[in-house]
Amino acid sequence: MKRLLITGAAGGVGRAMRPRLRDMAQTLRLADMLPITDADTHEETVLCDLNDAQAVREMVRGCDGILHLGGKSTEGDFETILEGNIRGLYNLYEAARAEGITRVLFASSNHTIGFYEQDQRLKTTDPMRPDSLYGVSKCFGEALASMYHDKFGIETAIVRIGSCFETPANHRMLSTWLSYNDFADLVACVFRAPKLGCPVIWGASANPAGWWESVGAEAIGWHPKDSSEIFRAQIEAMGPKPPVDDPNSRYQGGLFTVEPIHQRQ
Ligand code: NAI
Repeated sequence: MKRLLITGAAGGVGRAMRPRLRDMAQTLRLADMLPITDADTHEETVLCDLNDAQAVREMVRGCDGILHLGGKSTEGDFETILEGNIRGLYNLYEAARAEGITRVLFASSNHTIGFYEQDQRLKTTDPMRPDSLYGVSKCFGEALASMYHDKFGIETAIVRIGSCFETPANHRMLSTWLSYNDFADLVACVFRAPKLGCPVIWGASANPAGWWESVGAEAIGWHPKDSSEIFRAQIEAMGPKPPVDDPNSRYQGGLFTVEPIHQRQ
């Protein structure tokens, strides 16, 4: 691939992916609304607010694939979610359609299904139960990706990321953790697959404590290798698991289920 666009490249996952995806494309185009000042020789940077349709069109021009990580990544007021995740995603797909880009990885979230309880094992086909406005915006994103696939043939891997951090940080993340290396492997599988379609994929490592049935990416050859179990003793040493009626122990979405509706200040 000549040029892979990474949106949200200034964020936590974007920063972790940059060195791991070094060989995925001749050039990595790093885009964010925040400046990126440490681009390497194989990288180029674009300052772009996803809410700005014209800027998004210019951001995607000349790219062969899009790793879409940009947007509000936690609960927020409706306007912020609207700008980054709803209008922003519409702008991205419209730009991809206009510029002839046919493959996207969309960073969706476990918060699309966050109100399921933790003793339920879910399939990707189970109905959504978002736990926040943020989760609702990811449901919108999944629907938008599906429509652009059916109508225009743009292929998207819809990846419902669990918790993509260096290490799991609490008991819940022993079930939801996605290692950076497993995610980078998934990105490679998505952009190298001869045929992708529009699958929903659970973005989790091979955690024995996981809640989700088969990751959904076997067809493109992704088999996560890491396991959160090596961190169990460390997590347990930090304190006991919260009681069963605590949202962090009850719901798959954890504390997002008790977020209020925020107002823009
Ligand atoms: P992050 O918050 O660290 O990075 C997101 C980036 O998007 C930031 O650099 C931010 O400046 C940028 N951004 C926000 N609004 C924007 C806008 N309107 N225009 C342009 N850029 C904008 O998030 P993180 O952890 O790196 O997550 C990456 C993606 O994965 C996000 O879409 C998030 O929703 C999703 N995800 C992440 C999970 C995780 O465990 N890290 C879990 C589930 C989903």
